Amino acid sequence: MSTNQIGKPTNRVDGRAKVTGEAKYAAEFHVPDLAHGVVVNSAIAKGKIKKIDTSKAMAVEGVFKVITHENRKDYACYDKDFKDMDAPPGSPFRPLYNGNILFNMQPVALVVAETLELARYAATLVEVAYEEEAHETDFEANRGEAYVPEKYNSTTPPKPWGNPEEALAKADVKVEVEYAHPTEHHNPMEMHATVAVWEENGKLTVYDKIQGVENTLQYITSSFGLPKEKVHVLSPFVGGAFGSGLRPQYQSFLAVLAALELKRPVRVMLTRPQMFSFGHRPRTTQRFALGASKDGKLEALIQDVFAETSTFEDYSEDVVIWPGLLYKCDNMKFSHKLVALDEYTPLDMRAPGGTTGIFALESAVDELAYKLGMDPLVFRLKNYTDKDQNNDLPFSSKELRACYIQGAEKFGWEQRSKEPRSMRNGHQLVGWGVAHGAWEAQQAKASAKAVLTTDGKLTISSATADIGTGTYTVMTQIAAETLGLPLEDVTFKLGDTSLPFAPLEGGSKTVSTVGSAVKKVCEKIGEKLLRLAQQQANSPLKDAELKDVTFTDGRLHLKSDTAKAVSFKEIMQLGQREQLEEEVSSKPSEEQKKFARFAHSVAFVEVKVDEDLGAIQVSRIVTAIAGGRIINPKTAKSQIMGAAVWGIGVALEEESVMDNNYGRFMNHDLEKYHVPVNADVHDIDVIFVEEQDTIVNALGAKGLGEIGIVSIAPAIVNAVFHATGKRIRHLPIKLDKLL
Ligand code: MOS
Repeated sequence: MSTNQIGKPTNRVDGRAKVTGEAKYAAEFHVPDLAHGVVVNSAIAKGKIKKIDTSKAMAVEGVFKVITHENRKDYACYDKDFKDMDAPPGSPFRPLYNGNILFNMQPVALVVAETLELARYAATLVEVAYEEEAHETDFEANRGEAYVPEKYNSTTPPKPWGNPEEALAKADVKVEVEYAHPTEHHNPMEMHATVAVWEENGKLTVYDKIQGVENTLQYITSSFGLPKEKVHVLSPFVGGAFGSGLRPQYQSFLAVLAALELKRPVRVMLTRPQMFSFGHRPRTTQRFALGASKDGKLEALIQDVFAETSTFEDYSEDVVIWPGLLYKCDNMKFSHKLVALDEYTPLDMRAPGGTTGIFALESAVDELAYKLGMDPLVFRLKNYTDKDQNNDLPFSSKELRACYIQGAEKFGWEQRSKEPRSMRNGHQLVGWGVAHGAWEAQQAKASAKAVLTTDGKLTISSATADIGTGTYTVMTQIAAETLGLPLEDVTFKLGDTSLPFAPLEGGSKTVSTVGSAVKKVCEKIGEKLLRLAQQQANSPLKDAELKDVTFTDGRLHLKSDTAKAVSFKEIMQLGQREQLEEEVSSKPSEEQKKFARFAHSVAFVEVKVDEDLGAIQVSRIVTAIAGGRIINPKTAKSQIMGAAVWGIGVALEEESVMDNNYGRFMNHDLEKYHVPVNADVHDIDVIFVEEQDTIVNALGAKGLGEIGIVSIAPAIVNAVFHATGKRIRHLPIKLDKLL
């Protein structure tokens, strides 16, 4: 049996558990005496609670308590500005802290009852009187108040280079345009939920929906002043999160608060409408000024971004780093300003800043290419950059050209007729569009532990998460390959604060970060096995180094002499060891920092637009990805296809509609907040181009969580222009915009 596990299209190791219901999500941990908490949300966007009357709710039999800012216990720490691991600069929102209302649908009370039904009913009986103040939720109306934050929680916008204004003035061909996209909300299948289990000995077990248990631990211990040893956080399965679970949300706090006050286990699960009451992709308006010479050389680029944030935190994301990574140009300049509104702080959402920044950049570049009379793909090739101009660094690898070539061929780009409205299919206008994108291949510090027992079973653990991306599976593959074990002999454990530290699962860095630690810890076990084997008299491995040996099928042998293999079991029995154990941490190397490390993508899209009705069908997507080494082509393809589907949503459907009279997002359910359904999704073809990268990390893998989405929406926008001759600069492109 071959033990080459990396690169195999392996089925998910947790697949069976997931489809049989064996896999438990946060809200599914049933414990005896579980009480149910239901959140009451504010009806106004700004002001104060004058009076909160809980008597009617309390009169319902089976209601244990209605907790409000008036009757909650005091926790000294709560008065300080505690931070979670993902908090942007500012003062984090503290649920039930006082009577001030900072945003619409702010939690104002938690009703805890014997059953969910009772709690839900009693929650409708809580009466809140407000002293309302005028709120500001109108982004456009407040753009004049935009400011440069003291500190960006994302990359600080790159310093300008060259002389962009002068180069723009002199350019032969110019495009000066403004793009906008709306606020979007995360809609994972699993709603945010927490079960907090209080025990007599003062210990607290918390099952939370989170993209990294360490963050809930930090949030809970710092807000309630609890010692870390007393709190155990678990999150073995997450039903999608997309960034919504990077920060612990208010239901975590409220479940713990109620558990501590009532001294019993409490579950709080948010409803779908409540999923619209925290965190979202911030809307932005982006001004682009582009100048080129007649022959299509990009001479100047200026990008000015306005993005929303809350009044209490300065959230920002990487909207302005893309031009310097994707186009060679001697004159570039950027600004990124925030507009503070009476709403909850925005939150990372798949490819934060990339999805939006690349949408606007790639649309603007398409406009320029048309003005120049150039094929948009040829324009991109002509202005290709081999350097990250933001930081003046070479790329660790960049097979974007291969993406263009292989994608164009598969799509048939050559057959494209140049003029808009020149291709049709009966009553449908047909359009072809292209866009490219990038996403950073980060690595962070992480730890992993390995235990190998005499039965040849290996258990690896790290407190990372699997938000549906396939972490369980790829970590199992990496460990199995490193120690030459069959997959079924390897178990990977995650989502538990008793395991070695790992950072949040976000930013497409888990394979790189945790995978590197897993590989390293398995190599350590391999080394231990070798040393142990060498202690035996007449060992054929006597003078061997690690590089001289191979691990295959649970056995160790010299590379030069495969006949004399010795099994792990024998080695451990002869060495009188019950088990071998190692724990390591790994971190990015100094060498890596000398390079810009990014994954790249290209999307080719075909749309068919009904000429009379404006209905858009995304009939074909070919997307080519340069993501380094692909650990599992099957889960990788799923990632990219899911991202492409979301790209359709970004371009055509998703939009959180703020009613400025109420200061509330009004379409807070999946009936009115549209995401793509099967009928919206047609052919999606995913290509992974060959990309060798020995710098990015020990695995050569770049991470695929986010690269799949960034180029899809602009390719659709560009295809719609090619089909209709209409340039839509405000997303989403609903059909009324085409009529
Ligand atoms: Mo992702 S938006 O970094 O969870």
